[in-house]
Amino acid sequence: PSTKKILFLPGDGIGPEVMAQVRRVMDWLVASGRASFEVEDGLVGGSAYDAHGTPLHDDTMKLALAADAVLLGAVGGPKWDNLDFSLKPERGLLRLRKDMELFANLRPALVFDALAEASSLKTELVAGLDILIVRELTGGVYFGQPRGISDLPNGERRGVNTQVYDTHEIVRVARVAFDLAGKRDKRLCSVEKANVMESGLLWREEVTKIGTTEFPDIALSHMYADNCAMQLVRQPKQFDVIVTDNLFGDLLSDCAAMLTGSLGMLPSASLGEADANGARKAMYEPVHGSAPDIAGQNKANPLATILSFSMMLRYSFDMGVEADLIDQAVRDVLADGIRTGDIMQPGKTLVGTSGMGDALLAKLAAHG
Ligand code: NAD
Ligand code: IPM
Ligand code: MN
Repeated sequence: PSTKKILFLPGDGIGPEVMAQVRRVMDWLVASGRASFEVEDGLVGGSAYDAHGTPLHDDTMKLALAADAVLLGAVGGPKWDNLDFSLKPERGLLRLRKDMELFANLRPALVFDALAEASSLKTELVAGLDILIVRELTGGVYFGQPRGISDLPNGERRGVNTQVYDTHEIVRVARVAFDLAGKRDKRLCSVEKANVMESGLLWREEVTKIGTTEFPDIALSHMYADNCAMQLVRQPKQFDVIVTDNLFGDLLSDCAAMLTGSLGMLPSASLGEADANGARKAMYEPVHGSAPDIAGQNKANPLATILSFSMMLRYSFDMGVEADLIDQAVRDVLADGIRTGDIMQPGKTLVGTSGMGDALLAKLAAHG
């Protein structure tokens, strides 16, 4: 197999703990002759700030741009919460997304059979659930100008952020979502607040246009974001693919995560535009954060990050067979009743981060 260049960015908190388990899975793929990886390690977030005074060093940015794919753990933590915005750990992550132009963030929410009862919703509402949220990732209120905090003449202060979308930003993420819907149940729900925001109205108009002209076989529907949040917990199986902006996508994907039992289960892929050869810049990361409350205690669930690596194999390296092996090993481990604390249920076996890694490696090893 050709050697894939992967940049490893463990980050902060539980990031390094869960990434260490991915490393074991990678090593197994290599040792069993299934893949060849060249891995570089880099710093991002608070750990980069502590080492270099910036949450993402230019050299690390260059490595990310040169890699075939990036895998990121998580960034942030109380230690760095009071830094200036430009120095916050989260800025490192946002710069990676922006400078790599990773405009399409795929956040699948899939309920594993063994975990249907771990959801906070009734089992029948979530059993078999398989939805995909496509979140716009490089625009909207996260990056819009003007932004900042200023002093007003009356002695008050003003905080400003700007929600802004240009046509091309809407169109390109819509195309990704339509395309993915075409490979699934052919239903796409576009989510905004066209009733109160002009950017939402433009979003709705542009998505409708693309649907009519380029994807007439996809059933397109529209929903206001507040209703969508409600519908996700009322009747989540009504959705196939959801496409939405940066901020709504952030909120709705945390919500969807909980349907699957835990934030510790949800992987994501962030993709850029395909080049002439069909190759895309890409970064893979769990949806969860650095979980300061359990960091350093070997308690974090590594499955979201392991499943993110599996998405890397599938989307960046065309290694569907190997991705299937990993996904199946996750299913098998869960079916055996192996659980980290976040998905623990009565009668199951509680393990730590590395224990979950042990169980997964044992399943993989059974494949030879
Ligand atoms: P969080 O996702 O870190 O944690 C929320 C809750 O979920 C916590 O109780 C945590 O213990 C639990 N949790 C999260 N991941 C888990 C896992 N793998 N296994 C078991 N339990 C898990 O969100 P937060 O507490 O709001 O944020 C903490 C820090 O992380 C902040 O600095 C925030 O900015 C940052 N953050 C980073 C990312 C990222 O790097 N992509 C995403 C979200 C938040
Ligand atoms: C996520 C996180 C990030 C976001 C933060 C850490 C910048 O919450 O990836 O969901 O808001 O996009
Ligand atoms: Mn988030």
